[in-house]
Amino acid sequence: MLRSRCLPFVFIVLLGSCLIAGAQQVSQGEIERRVNALLQQMTLEEKAGQLAQFAGKSPQTMEMIRQGKVGSLLGVLGAKENNEAQREAVEHSRLKIPLILGYDVIHGFRTVFPVPLASASSFDPQMIEQSERIAAKEASAAGLKWTFAPMLDIARDPRWGRIVEGAGEDPYLGSIVGAARVRGFQGKDMADPDSVVACAKHYVAYGATEGGRDYNTVDISEQLLREVYLPPFHAAVESGVGTVMSAFNDLNGIPATANHHTLTEILRGEWKFDGFVVSDYSSVHELVAHGIAADDSEAALEALSAGVDMDMADGAYIKYIPDLVKSNKLPVSVVDEAVRRVLRVKFKAGLFEHPYADPNREKTDILTPQNLEVARKMALESMVLLQNKNDLLPLSRKGTLAVIGPLADDKASQLGSWAGNGQAKDAVTPLQALREKLGNEHVLYAKGVDIPPYESGLAAGVAAPAPSSATGVAGAESDHRPASIPDAVNAAQKADVVALFVGELAGMTGEASSRASLGLPGDQLKLIDAVLATNKPVVLVLESGRPLDIRWAPGRVPAIIQAWYLGVQAGNAIADVLFGEVSPSGRLPLTWPRSIGQIPNYYNHKSTGRPSSPDRWHTGYLDLSKEPLFPFGFGLTYTKFKYSSLKLESPSIARGGILRVSAEIENTGKREGTEVVQLYVHDRVAPTSRPVRELKGFQRVTLAPGEHKAVEFTVKANDLGSYDPEMHWIVPAGTYDVWVAPDASSGISGAFEVEPR
Ligand code: NOJ
Repeated sequence: MLRSRCLPFVFIVLLGSCLIAGAQQVSQGEIERRVNALLQQMTLEEKAGQLAQFAGKSPQTMEMIRQGKVGSLLGVLGAKENNEAQREAVEHSRLKIPLILGYDVIHGFRTVFPVPLASASSFDPQMIEQSERIAAKEASAAGLKWTFAPMLDIARDPRWGRIVEGAGEDPYLGSIVGAARVRGFQGKDMADPDSVVACAKHYVAYGATEGGRDYNTVDISEQLLREVYLPPFHAAVESGVGTVMSAFNDLNGIPATANHHTLTEILRGEWKFDGFVVSDYSSVHELVAHGIAADDSEAALEALSAGVDMDMADGAYIKYIPDLVKSNKLPVSVVDEAVRRVLRVKFKAGLFEHPYADPNREKTDILTPQNLEVARKMALESMVLLQNKNDLLPLSRKGTLAVIGPLADDKASQLGSWAGNGQAKDAVTPLQALREKLGNEHVLYAKGVDIPPYESGLAAGVAAPAPSSATGVAGAESDHRPASIPDAVNAAQKADVVALFVGELAGMTGEASSRASLGLPGDQLKLIDAVLATNKPVVLVLESGRPLDIRWAPGRVPAIIQAWYLGVQAGNAIADVLFGEVSPSGRLPLTWPRSIGQIPNYYNHKSTGRPSSPDRWHTGYLDLSKEPLFPFGFGLTYTKFKYSSLKLESPSIARGGILRVSAEIENTGKREGTEVVQLYVHDRVAPTSRPVRELKGFQRVTLAPGEHKAVEFTVKANDLGSYDPEMHWIVPAGTYDVWVAPDASSGISGAFEVEPR
């Protein structure tokens, strides 16, 4: 009875919601019709206007918006401000074309999540997608419809400050994480009011910058480009990413912002990307400094012709496109095509239907308890336990804890570099959380040392992290206690255990923050030496945006946690892990070098003709092992896992077939724990030399003490292939090694055949 009475109501509600959804989802054909209709009405200046993006909202840009000379703004904050700019376009410009309003929402908007390198350590794409969904909701509540994320640059060089913004060194992990971020930002439909258009950046190979110096030259083979640097972008395109950003770097002699091969032949030709490409900030103008254009007019011509549709911030397009067309240097068809791409995304994003943000959402949707809960969960999953001798961790609640170090109570650094609209005051520091957990009387605190900011990178010496304003973090509170090593020693002596928070300031990572050393800045090593000399058990908690040189640590410190920068809930998550309320489960998304001299050091390197031998005649160094301190994929937890019984469904697979492999994973310890089970393969003989291992799958598996599980992986044979010397994708026949493993340097192995045609 109840059922039949409810049904009509349910039907009406469903029908209603279908109609609402239907109103948003304009069909492809309808979009093309409307795009072309608009294009026909546009003057050349208005077309150039759609291709121009400017930074900030000034009286001058507002006037230009009215004149139809602006297609997008970046960096405007708040629904009111963004709506005002939008009103200018939608109500006062001749053609009423909405702006697309963008912002760098890199790891959260106001609810700041762990930095991307940290969240990649979770190996948890669902969690990553969920966090980007929240970031999209918050950003869209503030009137934004476009984020300049995800950053998909593979990085093998931790000197490069921007390694913190990506998912590390592996193309497979980078692709899975990148696709999850795109899905999270764009949601089910990018037209939904709580979705934002994603932007895959920086296209391409920006992370391969020579010497790890930001903005520097990249010269790599086409094979390396295709096998390592392009896959995450391809995955983003496959996930429907709306936009792509061209990179600052020169790529094999042609700057990425003028690179027809990557922007048009590969992105549009091979991958059928139908969104638009925006340049990076001023990278069109920088073609002049690169020396491939004599002036901004030539730069605009080269960038647009190569496939960059929108010009970020430097004004070259709006200034020169009309004249370039009038002087017959630039066919109007090229301009039209770029305008079509921009308008298409604006239609798909629902901007013509819903140009404005609902200002009420700013009050209800931002920094909610639910959002903070997800931030905490993600922070918990992002920490990597690197060492835990004698099971020092988890700590017992009995006794006194000394909390020492310059990062223990640094709010801004918890947020990490490029923290959206993050506010330092929102961040919970480890000191705060530990005091709360244990009670003030059980926590002794000493900062120990300050981390001195670096001077400008231009100076010869030791550099200045950007002030917190430049890291996007407002309201940083400084700790006015004078830091002193004797105070720290005193605290350690009085305590039962020491938690030592050292690393880099967040401003020492990110854009324009490359470092020539991986050492701990300032006097932190002196502090560590002094604390270790007390012989108290020490848990070293590293906060950094890159792997640091901690060769000295495993032999001297019992427990080491890599915490990266964990966002607003950093302190709570660290406290939970230290006291075992949650067991760590993160894994390294990069190879941790012993020393800067080993760079580049990545797990998926080629074999070389002389891989290893007991004598000196192999690839390596005289003065240091070539092995990393910790391998890719590595991370411990508070229990142990045993790997056994690797099984292949079949000893051979057809080229069109599927590899099915499983292994038994058993929790042999006394606590529940999560293992990130990884699948690697190696093609023994191919036309080009192959990496010693390549990640092809991973799964997070949670097991109770004594529990075991057969973990199964399936991989399409086609995904085991590689490029031949002519750059054709092939799947070579022959023998492949396979490992089911806890990291890239161990595991249980087998072998299988790919059958000849
Ligand atoms: C320059 C950075 O390289 C890029 O990542 C960012 O999105 C733009 N500036 C806009 O802020």
